[in-house]
Amino acid sequence: MRVIRSIKVMSEISRDLRRKGKTIGFVPTMGALHRGHISLISQAVKENDNVVVSIFVNPIQFGPKEDFKRYPRNFSKDAAICSMHKVDYIFYPDYCQMYPEGFKTYVTVNELSDILCGAFRPGHFRGVTTVVAKLFNIVQPDVAYFGQKDAQQAIIIKRMVCDLNIPVKIKVMPIVREKDGLALSSRNQYLNARQRRDAVVLYRALNKARDLVKSGCVDARRIINEMKKEINKINPKKIDYISVVDPYNLKQIAQIKDKALIALAVWLGKTRLIDNIIVRI
Ligand code: PAJ
Repeated sequence: MRVIRSIKVMSEISRDLRRKGKTIGFVPTMGALHRGHISLISQAVKENDNVVVSIFVNPIQFGPKEDFKRYPRNFSKDAAICSMHKVDYIFYPDYCQMYPEGFKTYVTVNELSDILCGAFRPGHFRGVTTVVAKLFNIVQPDVAYFGQKDAQQAIIIKRMVCDLNIPVKIKVMPIVREKDGLALSSRNQYLNARQRRDAVVLYRALNKARDLVKSGCVDARRIINEMKKEINKINPKKIDYISVVDPYNLKQIAQIKDKALIALAVWLGKTRLIDNIIVRI
């Protein structure tokens, strides 16, 4: 495994691999790797000749009051995980290379970026699409792997790739969870013992929604109300949203017809957690 810190070197390696007819699987991350990231890496290793994992805590996707400074960073641990899982290259650029002085160009996916998480994190998805577009240009992957954990992010990236004719296939992998159902996230490290116990309420609320749908309830308002009741049992600091939306275009659904994405964002103290499920009638 090689650690590549230079954009130029990474581009050259990718160009070389492609010239030799090798396929490149790519897993973009912000590090603090856990089993969720590893599931993407393992899939990439299974399906490609070479795998690149990027580790870059992208400043432009964090709001001014968000956790950019305290976001967990542990490169040596991440590198050991990558090496153990047969990653070929870690792309680990620094900020000055990614955003040199004079940087002015941003990629925005309209509408999809302003709802759900986007409504509470202005500019977040613009930061994500900009860095992912840059990473795609540098790494030139055949396939890029994303997690269903960030369902809105995956939908926005798919839209961007389609709209801008970026020649990469996007694969979305299922959410990896702890034994009690909490979705793995680098931000779970922020939770104290009490909050960690309470955090499972997101999964519990989603299960409640699934049960309601199973028992024939298709009314989004009722589902949302029942989820709210469940979540309020732990007295969270704030619920940003609980939404029932179309899994393809993120439009609100009033009555579930065939498939729906049920997504939520909840604050436990200073930590914002997100989770979602897809329900089918
Ligand atoms: P990060 O939060 O590090 O996540 C990297 C990838 O891992 C994302 O595609 C995310 O959806 C996936 N992932 C995280 N937790 C997961 C889980 N429990 N199960 C399955 N997949 C999971 O998402 C980002 O970084 C950034 O926004 C990035 C795309 C790298 C751009 O900066």
